[in-house]
Amino acid sequence: MSVTAVIGLQWGDEAKGKIVDLLTDQHEIVVRYLGGNNAGHTVKFDGQTYKLSLLPAGILRPGVQSVIANGVVINPKALLEEMKSITDRGLPIGENLIISDRGHVIFPYHHAEEAIFEASRGDSKIGTTMRGIGTCYRDKIGRAHAIRVGDFVRPAVLRKRLEEIVPYKNQILKCLDPNFKPFEVQALYDEYMGYADQLRPRVVDTTTFLHKALRDKKSILFEGAQGSLLDIDHGTFPYVTSSNASACGIQSGSGVPSRAIDRIIGVVKAYTTRVGGGPCPTELLDEIGQHIRDEGHEYGTVTGRPRRCGWLDTVATKYGANLAGVDCIAVMLLDVLGKLDELKICEAYEIDGERTTDFPSHVDDLAKAKPVYRTLPGWKKDITGVRRMADFPKEARAYLDSVSELVGAPVEIVSVGPDREQTVLS
Ligand code: GDP
Ligand code: IMO
Ligand code: MG
Repeated sequence: MSVTAVIGLQWGDEAKGKIVDLLTDQHEIVVRYLGGNNAGHTVKFDGQTYKLSLLPAGILRPGVQSVIANGVVINPKALLEEMKSITDRGLPIGENLIISDRGHVIFPYHHAEEAIFEASRGDSKIGTTMRGIGTCYRDKIGRAHAIRVGDFVRPAVLRKRLEEIVPYKNQILKCLDPNFKPFEVQALYDEYMGYADQLRPRVVDTTTFLHKALRDKKSILFEGAQGSLLDIDHGTFPYVTSSNASACGIQSGSGVPSRAIDRIIGVVKAYTTRVGGGPCPTELLDEIGQHIRDEGHEYGTVTGRPRRCGWLDTVATKYGANLAGVDCIAVMLLDVLGKLDELKICEAYEIDGERTTDFPSHVDDLAKAKPVYRTLPGWKKDITGVRRMADFPKEARAYLDSVSELVGAPVEIVSVGPDREQTVLS
């Protein structure tokens, strides 16, 4: 039995999906515990590409139990579409998927509110995925206007909650946007009842399920979404997502105590990417940044937005690793750097003339941070066929050694291409 967590240590899109998929054959249960369809996890094997947003990557392996736990915010329409896209490809979804009755449900008014809030920030907008994630979490914390999955699958409760909430939302939205067209309780009820009827058989108390699984010594894999630096408490606030995207979200998002976790694998892209607003000290706004974007196909899985690209920032990543409490790291997309003559790794920041390796707690300080780089020679070779650590060119090994030293954790997995097979284990 082992309980493992896979956590992104940067600003998301570190290729967590690939690592989770790789580990699903050693685990009986895969759990998504935070975020919603803001996540986009890509898995490639046998010439097939799967893009998962809400479904845990365990859904791709027959016999694995997939769990959408209480910390997830669920857009039921998006979930049903995603489930259909998977069953259309011949993979079954039935009892192998369970959804927590404690999860929270996203409604169209969450999207409307998000659009207004984002517009109100003008040039300093967060750059959210516009999936109603933050506004749904806001209602969860506020309690008065939240609808949980357990409410949504009970017709009388759903109706009552919509009757209480929708007039309030209409009033607020009308004040904020005079052109706003009010939501109708009946139309929302009819639409959501249609989704509830399809999802009801999958809804259970996943917390109790996971407690029993722990007692039965089942192996469990936690599939992180987003990344440590997007954590609502510890990330680059306010340019973050609205949940605990570092490992501290596991306990609140699933009900599994952190002491039950045996191993935390931190997933690190060999360089830096970020989508949306907020400072990114190592961002490259030149031809090297564009080269990395082209080689790594760095366009968002969810929104298609070009990702901001830069050198690996180990001040930020080490902080992410400390938040997650990693046992080891997986270095992803190393192949993408294979054509560059020389590579840089940020090993410290200079802020107001002072050198530091501490990650600033205020974004304004992070915005002032000038990266201090270590320069290494490139390997200038195609490494996509490498399958053993010993077979990497010596320059690639030196790069990995620097990453391990600066992030402060051993590199146990290296990924050299998107396919399941293109993986090197230490
Ligand atoms: P996630 O959100 O952390 O699961 O990551 P995404 O799926 O959003 O983005 C990672 C992207 O990199 C996907 O398109 C993967 O197919 C791709 N990918 C994963 N590992 C590698 C790798 O080692 N090399 C290359 N070139 N691409 C990779
Ligand atoms: P995965 O799981 C990368 C970013 C958005 C935005 C900020 C807030 O695929 O790694 P939100 O819609 O969550 O309120 O947006 O967070 N963001 C992600 N960036 N990968 C993700 O997920 C992300 N999920 C949210 O771009 O900057
Ligand atoms: Mg992604």
